[in-house]
Amino acid sequence: MTTPGPHGAGSLEGRCFLSVLDFEPADLEHSLTLSATLKRDRPLGKEAPTSAALQGTYVALLFEKPSLRTRSTFEIAIRELGGNFIVPSADVALGKRESLADVGRCLERWVAGAVVRTYEQSRLTDLALATTSFRVINALSNEEHPCQALADCLTLKERWGDPRGRTVAFVGDGNNVATSFAQAAVMLGIHVRVASPDGCDLPPGIDGDIARVARYGAELTRFRDPVAAVRGADAVYTDVWTSMGREAEVAERRRLFSPYQVNDALMAHAGTDACFLHCLPAHRGEEVTDSVLDSPASAVFDQAENRLHTQKALLVMLYED
Ligand code: CP
Ligand code: NVA
Repeated sequence: MTTPGPHGAGSLEGRCFLSVLDFEPADLEHSLTLSATLKRDRPLGKEAPTSAALQGTYVALLFEKPSLRTRSTFEIAIRELGGNFIVPSADVALGKRESLADVGRCLERWVAGAVVRTYEQSRLTDLALATTSFRVINALSNEEHPCQALADCLTLKERWGDPRGRTVAFVGDGNNVATSFAQAAVMLGIHVRVASPDGCDLPPGIDGDIARVARYGAELTRFRDPVAAVRGADAVYTDVWTSMGREAEVAERRRLFSPYQVNDALMAHAGTDACFLHCLPAHRGEEVTDSVLDSPASAVFDQAENRLHTQKALLVMLYED
């Protein structure tokens, strides 16, 4: 891995995964190959070659927002790699009692790293920069969800083999999930279309990053019209209209996003064998109908499963000497 880009900071030296942009495209390819190997080897249990990769290693799990998938899969991943975890409560470990920098400096004396779900991305950078050897993993921030993007990419590679030249239409909020997915997908040569209402676009700063990391001619295109975005696409991706922390906006967002629901009529504009993606949790009947979520095209539980395999690979990569 490289020294982190604009989302990391100068002295992190590749020890943290705060953003997809902390990976070069070759790192992403490597992580997906390793993920597939770990998935294949999982039935071997203690006989798997990586079953002691984190032996003697403690990791702290710090979650300021709810989580089923991310937290469960990190707990299982750490255990299956032979490591241990501690779960300090978020109210004492995420800067409410003392500065995040001091929390990081203390934790670093006891454990090798932390998996952190929090609000502003800057909180992750602050924690990482206050330490010298601590491995910090972004388990979701307001701005990015890079661990989700790893599982999304593995899921698409499993379906398509070589994903170069494919097109994914993300319909809905240009949020943390959309941002990380777009960054990762273009590294694999996947064209990304994002259809969002006015004011809910991907952050403007992403364009420079996309141009820098895109491979094989992959492009990011923004749309207002969901039908235009989905037309002929190989996959349709959506996420909740109201992300965690924005609950006060729920009524306004329901109104704003109602033309962006992924339903059978919208999916009919996608390519014949198009699959449907959602990071989950889903708000059934809002951003997606039951008929799409439960259809044969739906890959959502493959995505959920692949959170485990991709995070195991990430941990192996971050903790290998
Ligand atoms: N997709 C995802 O991150 O799920 P959780 O919020 O349950 O961790
Ligand atoms: N965008 C959603 C993703 C949840 C996994 C949120 O931030 O709440």
